[in-house]
Amino acid sequence: MQMSEDIIGRFIRGIDRVLIPSGHLFLWVDKFHLCQGIGNWLDETSLSIVDLVTWDKDTFGMGYRTRRRGEYCIVLQREPRKAKGVWTAHNIPDVVREKITQRGHTHAKPVGLQGDLLSAVSNEGDYVIDPAAGSFSVLTAAESHGRTFLGCDLNG
Ligand SMILES: C[S@@+](CC[C@H](N)C(=O)[O-])C[C@H]1O[C@@H](n2cnc3c(N)ncnc32)[C@H](O)[C@@H]1O
Repeated sequence: MQMSEDIIGRFIRGIDRVLIPSGHLFLWVDKFHLCQGIGNWLDETSLSIVDLVTWDKDTFGMGYRTRRRGEYCIVLQREPRKAKGVWTAHNIPDVVREKITQRGHTHAKPVGLQGDLLSAVSNEGDYVIDPAAGSFSVLTAAESHGRTFLGCDLNG
């Protein structure tokens, strides 16, 4: 189910409330949200945009004009905003090609990239949360990096 703008705003404010200081939110958007901007979703939060990763799905998707192949992961950080000592991996490119392995969910995200991202900003045993977990790709990524996963989805 597509979330309404109101629900997205409430999710992001809730995530902002429980993130550790300098903690990260990896927010997946399509190209339309990327172009139109997500600034108003951050109202009343201490989150700011600190990076962007483009995912090349290596597939030939749908589209009225060009055919979709990319998705975008906006990297947000809670205050205090800093990279040194918080983002510990320096080998993640900002364009990543990865085929999907979690079949059965239309909007599944790449497990390898998510594992790299979550391990760049957390330590073993830390909690990683996905409140709209879909295919539970974040669960797979978190477990393979020794993180503790909390998550759910409207559809189970
Ligand atoms: C883009 S998909 C998530 C993809 C997921 N990260 C993955 O890797 O598969 C968005 C998900 O949000 C869920 N969703 C929509 N509204 C929700 C709500 N109010 N609470 C929890 N989940 C919700 C949908 O069921 C859908 O599976």
